[in-house]
Amino acid sequence: MIRPVLPQIHVLYENPAWIPPLQEALAREGFRVRLVHVNEGLVDPSAPPPEGVWINRISPSSHTRGHVHTVELARQFLYWLESHGRRVINGLGAFELEMSKLRQDLVLRRHGIRTPRTVLAVGRKHLLQAAATFDGPFITKHDQGGKGLGIRLFRDARELEQHLDGDGFDAGPGARMILQQYIDAPERFITRVEIVGGRFVFAMRSSTAGGFELCPSDACNPMPSGKAEEADEVEEGTLHVCPTGPGLFSPSPVAEDDPLVQRYIRLCNEEKIEIAGIEYVRDAWGHRYTYDINGTTNYNQTLGARIGVDGMSEVARYIRRTVTPVRRRRRIAS
Ligand SMILES: Nc1ncnc2c1ncn2[C@@H]1O[C@H](COP(=O)(O)OP(=O)(O)O)[C@@H](O)[C@H]1O
Ligand SMILES: [Mg+2]
Repeated sequence: MIRPVLPQIHVLYENPAWIPPLQEALAREGFRVRLVHVNEGLVDPSAPPPEGVWINRISPSSHTRGHVHTVELARQFLYWLESHGRRVINGLGAFELEMSKLRQDLVLRRHGIRTPRTVLAVGRKHLLQAAATFDGPFITKHDQGGKGLGIRLFRDARELEQHLDGDGFDAGPGARMILQQYIDAPERFITRVEIVGGRFVFAMRSSTAGGFELCPSDACNPMPSGKAEEADEVEEGTLHVCPTGPGLFSPSPVAEDDPLVQRYIRLCNEEKIEIAGIEYVRDAWGHRYTYDINGTTNYNQTLGARIGVDGMSEVARYIRRTVTPVRRRRRIAS
């Protein structure tokens, strides 16, 4: 008798705190899971990578957890995997997009999705030159962002200049800074749309009342009865608060048939982003501006339980559907 055997799943990761929900969901689908930590290692182009399916879970904020080589090593690792024809979920294309907000903006625009005006600048002179082209408030971000890195609000170029001259200015990896039109949202939340395997999974609102750090991961939201005020102290002018408390995430009425969601789905399909959390903010005129595509998206379990959708289970089920079972002859004891 022939019994299908599922391929082994290799998870490329950097932050162990984000792994258990994925690992458990994959195990529930019957996968054998191997974790591959990426920060130091070797890549031998002549050696074929282990058989199986690979999932890329490398975050652009790895360097903030002391893993300063992760992104560069992952880039080479993914190239090696794909050169050898390995199936990689959120492969190199998705990875490069996640590592650059400039590229995200280009891709979003290519798909006819409205974005805040965005400029990349490297170097003081160019930062100030870019700042002078904004006729209203703008925010700065690291091009290789995540967890609100480098996010700061400025009214004008003069304010930015003062900040550049002060202590503590950090332009982030490659000194690539993004300057972006600030969208002043009358409703204090942003919306995040979760897509897995070209399907809408759910949409949620993240409150921006306490700051602009909105990672929904349970690892970033460990206080079941916490309050937003208990979050980390916020440096003046900074829009970053983490960890945040619950109550910050709530269900969104946005549904699959929303035209913007349909555009997101097309974008994910065409750009080969199999797992994504895409964020937008709405201005006073109701225009929706999309500004962030997260491939290493995490799901908040409290919200998931409330709406009856477990994001990581959806991911694991998608992987189960998409991978071709390896067929092996097995002798069944009679
Ligand atoms: N252009 C913008 N206008 C207003 N608020 C923004 C804008 N861009 C980002 N934000 C706020 O800052 C948060 C973090 O920005 P984001 O680009 O998602 O960075 P990260 O990759 O660090 O999550 C957003 O969730 C949102 O609340
Ligand atoms: Mg974001």
